[in-house]
Amino acid sequence: MRWTVTSDVVKTEISDAIATITLNRPEKLNALNQEVRRQLIATFDRLAADPEVRVAIVTGAGEKAFVAGADIAEFDDRTALDQFAAFRCETVYSATAAFSKPLIAAINGICLGGGCELALACDIRIASASARLGQPEVNLGIIPGGGGTQRLSRLVGVGQAFKLIYTGEIISADEALRIGLVEEVVPPDQLMSRARALATAIATKSPVAIRLIKEAIQASLETPLSEGLRLETSLISLAFASEDKREGVRAFLEKRPPTFTGR
Ligand code: COA
Repeated sequence: MRWTVTSDVVKTEISDAIATITLNRPEKLNALNQEVRRQLIATFDRLAADPEVRVAIVTGAGEKAFVAGADIAEFDDRTALDQFAAFRCETVYSATAAFSKPLIAAINGICLGGGCELALACDIRIASASARLGQPEVNLGIIPGGGGTQRLSRLVGVGQAFKLIYTGEIISADEALRIGLVEEVVPPDQLMSRARALATAIATKSPVAIRLIKEAIQASLETPLSEGLRLETSLISLAFASEDKREGVRAFLEKRPPTFTGR
C-alpha cells in the first residue's frame, strides 16, 4: 500500500492499482473550500499520470458526510464578478469529469450541493443506505454552479432535475436509486468494500479498452448520435491496434485468463 498525502484535506491511498481519495474536513462535513478544490484538482492530475493507478474512488472522511456542498462561508462576501472569475478557471467539477480513469463516488453520507455535483461528475455512484442527497442551492438564493443543472438532468431526466433543483428537497439513498441518481445502495459498513470490489473488477480489464470506453461514453453526453457513432468506430479501430486486444482474443481462444498490459 502507498499513501500519497497531498495535504491534510485531501488524502490519497493507493493499493492494488486502486486510488482511494478521501476528502478530509469532517468537522465541516467535508465542505469544498478553495484548498480542498485546489488539492483535489492536483490529485487528479497526479493520479492520471501514475501508471500504477487504474481506477479511483472518491469518498468523504467521517461517519456523517460525503460532501455537504461548497463551503458556504466562502460565499459571504463573494460578488457576482468573483464568482464569474472563479468559474472561468478550471473548476473541481470539470477536473473531476475530465479525469481520464474510471472514477467511483462512494457516497458515505450527506451529499448536497457541490457534493452532489462532484458525485455527478464521477462515472459511477455507490451510496451508503444512510446517504442523503440533494441540490439545496435554491434555499441560499442561488443555483447549482458545479454542473448540477446540466449533469443532473442528463442523469435522471429533466423532470426529476427540475423537481430536485426547484425544491431543494433532500432525498434518501433509496429514492436516489429509484430515480437513477446513484447506481447502487449498500449497507453503510459495506460501502468501501463494494466500491473496492467494483474498482477491482474494472482494474482487471484492459486499460486501453477502459480508456476508450470512458472517452466514448463521455462523448455521448455531448455529441449527436451520428457523430458519437463515428467516434465509436474510430475508437474500436484504435482498440484493434492494441496489444491488449491481441492478448484478450488469444486468451479467449486458448481458454485462459488474459494478462493485460495497457499497450
Ligand atoms: N459549507 C460550510 N460549512 C458547512 C457546510 C457547508 N456547505 N455544511 C456544513 N458545514 C459546517 C457547519 O457550519 C458546522 O460547522 P460549525 O460546527 O463550525 O458550526 C459543521 O459543518 C457541522 O454542520 P451542522 O450544520 O452543525 O450539522 P447538522 O447535522 O446540524 O446539519 C446539514 C447538516 C447538512 C443539514 C447542514 O450542515 C446544512 O444544511 N449544510 C449546508 C448544506 C448546503 O446547503 N449545501 C449546499 C451549498 S451550495
